[in-house]
Amino acid sequence: MGPSSVALLLAVISLTAALDNGMLKTPPMGWMAWERFRCDIDCKDDPQNCIGEKLFRDMADRLVEDGWKELGYEYVMIDDCWTSMQRDEQGRLQPDPSRFPGGIAKLARYIHDRGLKLGIYADIGSHTCMRYPGTPLDKIVIDAQTFASWGVDYLKFDGCYSNPIEHMLGYPLMSKALNATGRPIGYSCSWPAYEGGLPPNVNYSLLGEICHLWRNYDDIQDSWDSVQDIIGWFANNQDDLQPAAGPGRWNDPDMLIIGNFGLSVHQARSQMALWAIMAAPLIMSNDLRNLDNSARAILQNKMAITINQDPLGIQGRRLLQEKSRIEVFWRPLSNSASSLVFLSHRTDMPYLYHTSLAKLQYEPGNYEVYDVFTSSTVKGLNATTVFTVSINPTGVVMWYIYPRKQSRQQVERLRHQQRKKTNVFRKFKAEHHSVL
Ligand SMILES: *[C@@H]1O[C@H](CO)[C@@H](O)[C@H](O)[C@H]1NC(C)=O
Ligand SMILES: *[C@@H]1O[C@H](CO)[C@@H](O)[C@H](O)[C@H]1NC(C)=O
Ligand SMILES: *[C@@H]1O[C@H](CO)[C@@H](O)[C@H](O)[C@H]1NC(C)=O
Repeated sequence: MGPSSVALLLAVISLTAALDNGMLKTPPMGWMAWERFRCDIDCKDDPQNCIGEKLFRDMADRLVEDGWKELGYEYVMIDDCWTSMQRDEQGRLQPDPSRFPGGIAKLARYIHDRGLKLGIYADIGSHTCMRYPGTPLDKIVIDAQTFASWGVDYLKFDGCYSNPIEHMLGYPLMSKALNATGRPIGYSCSWPAYEGGLPPNVNYSLLGEICHLWRNYDDIQDSWDSVQDIIGWFANNQDDLQPAAGPGRWNDPDMLIIGNFGLSVHQARSQMALWAIMAAPLIMSNDLRNLDNSARAILQNKMAITINQDPLGIQGRRLLQEKSRIEVFWRPLSNSASSLVFLSHRTDMPYLYHTSLAKLQYEPGNYEVYDVFTSSTVKGLNATTVFTVSINPTGVVMWYIYPRKQSRQQVERLRHQQRKKTNVFRKFKAEHHSVL
């Protein structure tokens, strides 16, 4: 591409309207193929698990019949490896004919008939990450139109085999092209993950204007190491990441791997808790046909989902990193409520952690607590009450906290406190400088 066409594209992009189509005011929930099923295209020897229309129909059936849909899990998402190696005579992407014999439009109808939504995958480069045909700049408009004509509801736009200039041009261009189709389509941009995830290489204001969500960091793998690494990276960089999130604009720490092979029950609770605190998309990548009851209970935990989907859409933060390797995370929620997560990075035994709400910057007052994973309640707590939580190794205690019997004055003060959340964070940081 010559400099003059770059200039032309930049001129087009400067006219780009935000992709503010009212979608994804809370983080998306659903299921995605990648982490669990990767690029398994062996439908001959592995027909249950290969990337083909049967897999997505199976998962749609499970979402509807096993209680997922009513909890909000509504997206069925195709990842890489769905296309044929060639575009069709009109230059459009087409699905692999042997694995998707009915085509994507028919699959979309199947999914829509069940009250669900379909997500698809493309890549801004010459090829996708698994070397299927990409969507370079000159194919962006046609691919957006093709997806819309099939009834696709969501696009994950990956960034393999492309460079930073192509990203800068292509991600806004796809936003505009999706908008121009007239079909509301959720737009997930992998852009920041390819630029190191942090300013100045990443402009989160711009991302918030053109994408509904974005992958900031490495792909998740089926292990606690991977989950812990992701949690750590997001917390270490929260000053840049946390303010970027809000209704319609989400950081995406990648899929939930709960129900696979790599996490213990306690580690699975930790992933669910932290994804709720981070206002992260709840996109499972597991085999819904074959899920044990503990994984199901964690993924279907109503309070964890409620916290994740809170309408204020304020991403939480890590408040404390103790020398004991206990970390405390906090997320403010609507109705003057909040959530606390106590996470243990220890590997010895359950740890008794003593603290008070006042130490965690709560205002004076009386509170009640609902423990998200044990369903027990704690009453008669005021801000200065010293309490103890027992946190299992690599596990969490997760609390939903709400003020008890508030006077009108208290309600006003708490509202005011929530509006001032940024200042609270700053004040807290200043006071706890030694530990943060
Ligand atoms: C397109 O963008 C405009 C301006 O942000 C918005 O009002 C409209 O809802 C968008 N339409 C679609 C289909 O995304
Ligand atoms: C980031 O993007 C916003 C919104 O498009 C823009 O106003 C701002 O100038 C950009 N910041 C930088 C440092 O480029
Ligand atoms: C807070 O609760 C503790 C017991 O947990 C009690 O001793 C104390 O008096 C209470 N403080 C206030 C201000 O109510």
